[in-house]
Formats: sequence, structure tokens, C-alpha cells
Amino acid sequence: MTKARLHIETNVIHGSDDPGRFDGAQITPIVRSTVFEAGEQIDPQSIRYGRLSTLANQLEAAEVLARIEGAEAGLVTSSGMAAITTTLIALLRSGGHVLTQRPLYGATQQFVSERLAELGIGHGFIDVRQPETWQAALTRDTRAIYVEAISNPLMVVADHARIVEFARAHGLVSVIDNTFASPVNFRPIEVGFDLVLHSATKYLNGHSDVVMGAVLGSAGRIRSIKRWLDILGGTADPEACYLLRRGLKTLALRVGRQNENALALARTLSAHAAVARVIYPGLPDHPDHAVAARLFDGFGGMLACELVGGAAAAARFVRSVKVAVHSASLGGPETLLTIPATTSHAGLGAEARADAGISDGLVRISAGFEHIDDLIRDFEAALAPHSDAS
Ligand SMILES: Cc1ncc(COP(=O)(O)O)c(C=O)c1O
Repeated sequence: MTKARLHIETNVIHGSDDPGRFDGAQITPIVRSTVFEAGEQIDPQSIRYGRLSTLANQLEAAEVLARIEGAEAGLVTSSGMAAITTTLIALLRSGGHVLTQRPLYGATQQFVSERLAELGIGHGFIDVRQPETWQAALTRDTRAIYVEAISNPLMVVADHARIVEFARAHGLVSVIDNTFASPVNFRPIEVGFDLVLHSATKYLNGHSDVVMGAVLGSAGRIRSIKRWLDILGGTADPEACYLLRRGLKTLALRVGRQNENALALARTLSAHAAVARVIYPGLPDHPDHAVAARLFDGFGGMLACELVGGAAAAARFVRSVKVAVHSASLGGPETLLTIPATTSHAGLGAEARADAGISDGLVRISAGFEHIDDLIRDFEAALAPHSDAS
């Protein structure tokens, strides 16, 4: 049986580890050296130097991630944003145009709507729930379409198979940020995406102690993105790669539990009188529930809600939790609550947030893997009227 045919639960553990490489060690040690003897032959593509992503820990992390996502090749980067910006610059270049979903993660949306224009690159936003409108958004220069597997922060799940079909019909490169779903729940290459991006800072590492990113795809596409990464310099540090590799071993276990906790929290919040609206793709009333059920193996660990009492009630809620933590970011062991208007999407400005449907009272929740009874008790106490005093 080849490793490619193994399940993700097995691949995250064995991945590409090559025990021969380090004298039979099952865990690749951190190799800090950035300088290596060249030997007799010098092939410019394989010079071992930290910035060129050719160090043992960088190669191993990229290889394991490619295997987990079912991609031919991979590249690791210094952050999720390094993966996103390097990929879009490499694909679009001056004069290009990209179609994207809106809203996206705040920094990605800012990059697309503000920074790309400064580089002479155009963009158009599409409503992924209205496929009949996509064609009108194309221009002569459109080269790529970019979506998030589950969008940040409104948990929209596009019909990703249809996105791929559209991209192929119009000769576009299809790119997806799979951070929120994680490859445990969704492997976009299986539905035909060309490139999969990650903020490995989140679920892939999963321990809230690494900032990293990744790009996965065909060997040819990864080579051409690497040419840009080598020069732009957003390369991953070997120690971060080691921690990511360590974190990946438990990815399937962690995400399985986070899926369960998110669903239980979504149900609890839905039934609570203080909650006006819950957004979770695993709930039957979510507009994309059927699409998510068809495409995903699990509905993910991310949910959002709006409270009766709007922004003031939301601020009270996130300050009142005692087990969960009021903090940006996601995908770690701890259940995290944030108000996107003040954190991940603050940079967009009030008008862009309003256009995108992100209210000031929206609370985004990243389910951790604490005991669910403790989380439910914590949320109920924080939503109770007496928590006003805190
Ligand atoms: C969906 C998504 N993509 C990308 C990023 C950026 O990742 P990083 O902070 O690792 O640069 C984030 C960060 O929150 C995110 O939520």
C-alpha cells in the first residue's frame, strides 16, 4: 500500500518522515544550520540555505502537508499571509485580475482590495451564493478565483465543486484558503482546486505557539510560487517547522473533538434566549448546510453568533467567559471568542464591514478541546443577566 492511499489519521503521524535521514530517528531533529558544505555538484535549485526552503525541517513540513492535502508538492512560509500574498503576486503579476469571495479574512480582503491595486492588479468581488452572477464579474485579465473553504467570519461555504467547474471553464487558476475547514474536514484538491493555502498558525499546528503558512498544489505551480518566495523572503523558520510537524501528529484527533464541541456549542447557543442568531454550517438552518454536508467530512470548529442586545451584549459576553478566552486567532486547544469588528476585520473599516454583513455585535467562536460540559456551563453563566456586573 502506498502512503498516498492511507487515511489522514495515518498520514498525519507517518507523513513523509524518513527515518534513514537522521540515523533512524522517528522525529526529525531541528536543524538550525543555515550553512552546508556544497559537495562536488552545485545545482542552483537545491542549494541548502534557510531562505530557499531547502532545509530538512522545511522540506519535511511541506512534504507532510502535501501528503495530507493530497497535493503533489508543497511549500511552507513564515505566516499564512506570506502564503497568501506570495501566491497571489506570483499568479497575477502586473495587469492581472482576480475574482474573490467577500468577506474574506480581514488582512486578505485588505490585500486584495487595497494593496493589489498599488501593484497594478485588479480585483472583483463575487457572491459565492449567486453562481449566475460570476460570469459578469470576469474581465479579459482575470487569471484566478480565490475563496475560503469556510469563510472568515461569516462561515459561508461556497459550492466548491462549482467554483472549480467555473474556473476550468474560464481558464482561471482556482485558489482556496482551507484554514477554517482543515484537511481533516475538507481536502480541496479532491474536488479539483489548483492551489490550497493555509494559515498553519491555526489548526495545522494547533497549539497556539507557531506562526506559519503553507501552499500546496502541483509541482509546477509550487515551483513557480517558490521562485517568488525565494526572493520575497517569507520563508518558514526550522524551529516553527518542527513545532508544526509535532502538532500535526494530533491534527485528526484535535479537529474531531473541535467539530464535536462546535456543534454542541452551536446547539446550546441556538436554544438560548439571549442569542439572536447562530451561524454554524453544521446546523440544518445554515444556508449552506446541504453543500457542507456534501463536500465536508465534518463541519469544523468555527461558529459565530449575534446576541439579543447587539454590540453591547457581545462585549459583555466575551468579557464574562471564564474558561474560554477572549482573544483573536483560532484553531488552538483553548476555546477563543473574538468580535471580528474589533480584531480580525477592524482594518476593513465600518463601511466595508457593513457591506460585507459583519455586524459590530458578531461574536466569532473557535471551539477548543476542553470538556464540553465546562464550556457549556461557562457560556451559560456568561450569557446570564447577572454577568452584567463583570
Ligand atoms: C482564514 C485565514 N487565513 C489566513 C490568515 C492569516 O494567517 P497568519 O496570521 O498565519 O498570517 C488568517 C488569520 O487569522 C485566517 O483566519
